[in-house]
Amino acid sequence: MTAVSSSILWYTTRASGIVSLLLLTAVMVGGIMTATRVGGGTVPRFAVAEVHRRISLIAMIFIILHIATTIVDSYVNVGIVSALIPFTSQYKPIKVALGTVAFDLMLAITVTSLIKQRISHSLWRTIHWASYLAFPIAVIHEILIGTDFRFAWMILLTAGCVSAVGLALAWRFWAHPRPGGALTAVPSRTAPPKRSKAIVTRAPAAGPSRRRGSSKPKGTS
Ligand code: HEM
Repeated sequence: MTAVSSSILWYTTRASGIVSLLLLTAVMVGGIMTATRVGGGTVPRFAVAEVHRRISLIAMIFIILHIATTIVDSYVNVGIVSALIPFTSQYKPIKVALGTVAFDLMLAITVTSLIKQRISHSLWRTIHWASYLAFPIAVIHEILIGTDFRFAWMILLTAGCVSAVGLALAWRFWAHPRPGGALTAVPSRTAPPKRSKAIVTRAPAAGPSRRRGSSKPKGTS
């Protein structure tokens, strides 16, 4: 492959990196909402989970674009191996490695989610918890290596992403502080469901029903 280094590649790496960070933020917030069973009113719960799943796949596409343009751009000297194995890059090894670790974790989370039916729930869950590592590592990667972090807009954008995830997490633990129990926003199980109440009010009184009585053939004892 011919070595390419152009400002278009550089701008694409930067733009796709920023979009990846925004999508990663949305994935984190969506994941926290899914874990806390948000929805069930106007927006059904399965829709929240489905949006989370789709955004995470779109995020992976942008991260792969970000990595691909980095590899193709000969200026930064990052090969496909260094994009996947941490600390093997000749260009800014530690700063690139942070991006690599974040990507490897996201890859593991995505793959295990795609084969969720074939693995144990505890394994899937344990690997999914790695998202709480992937997000801050990606943010540190961006802060340390990004060209745009010297601009106020990028600092504000980064602060916005971190705050969004921080607030979602705070809400998760503040709204459902059930020590030792499952973190869930499902309404208390002690409250009777509305449907069962409706059935109770419609239940016939003791004794033979009117319908059964009226259907009895005349002249029989
Ligand atoms: C979850 C994974 C990743 C995310 C969310 C991410 C995000 C970002 C962001 C937001 C920037 C800053 C862009 C800017 O300042 O305009 C950036 C820069 C960069 N990333 Fe990543 N990155 C990830 C993984 C990787 C990987 C695996 C590599 C290595 C192949 C990589 C290579 C780079 C490079 C070389 C830059 C510097 C671009 C520049 O010159 O500004 N990133 N990344």
